[in-house]
Amino acid sequence: MANKPLNEAYGRIINVSPADDSPAATQKYYNENWETWEIDMKSMTYTAADVAAQKAASLVSREQMEHFKLLDLGAGTGLSGVALRRAGFPGKISALDGSPGMLKLAMEKSIYSDATEHLLTSSNPLPYPDQAFDMVVNVGGFTIHHMEPDCLEDVLRVLKPLSYLVVTVRLHTGEHKVRFNGELDRLEAAGLMKKYSRETFLQYKWNEVSDDKFKVNYADQYGDLLVLQKPGNN
Ligand SMILES: C[S@@+](CC[C@H](N)C(=O)[O-])C[C@H]1O[C@@H](n2cnc3c(N)ncnc32)[C@H](O)[C@@H]1O
Repeated sequence: MANKPLNEAYGRIINVSPADDSPAATQKYYNENWETWEIDMKSMTYTAADVAAQKAASLVSREQMEHFKLLDLGAGTGLSGVALRRAGFPGKISALDGSPGMLKLAMEKSIYSDATEHLLTSSNPLPYPDQAFDMVVNVGGFTIHHMEPDCLEDVLRVLKPLSYLVVTVRLHTGEHKVRFNGELDRLEAAGLMKKYSRETFLQYKWNEVSDDKFKVNYADQYGDLLVLQKPGNN
């Protein structure tokens, strides 16, 4: 039978009506739905936070993990921070998010060293000094109508040389995909980062919890997992 919570969450988060398909509506969504975000993600069989955290852990040694200072950029309610702890990062993790409600729930988890409410835009850069972090993890924050691709350069600024930015993103539309990929190409050509790895992954596993009454575009299940490396000297 059809999975009602999945159908409803899919309608709220992915198959949004044209009226809700804008940056302002997306921000409003997080400001109003922070209390149900994790329920929706559970219904949706969300895997991105764990996939990103495991990738992050695979990039560093056990010793580096011990003293690494991480930024969970677009931390939301902290699902990504929980996944980073589960993957074995014991040190300081800073949380930043533009939605006060999401961030409140993240801090209640007592896993972050500090939390910053901040809406990142090209004219409102990150409130951290240059080279403040050993790694930045961004799970879903560069999705369409979220952080704009032109903010990637500022994210690289707060990374130490040779450090990694781990990003998961669903590249929904042709236009968003072109802009995101175009900015990656520009940053790489400018010598500001190297595309270290890129793979497609299953961000949701709807096939496991649904049936043919669930009228979705199964292509929406997939996301991109990227690792970008800042250049520098050892
Ligand atoms: C898809 S959710 C992911 C949350 C969390 N990383 C997780 O895995 O559950 C994206 C988050 O990015 C935040 N966000 C979107 N655009 C933002 C911006 N421009 N600046 C700061 N946070 C933003 C939203 O408030 C939301 O909490």
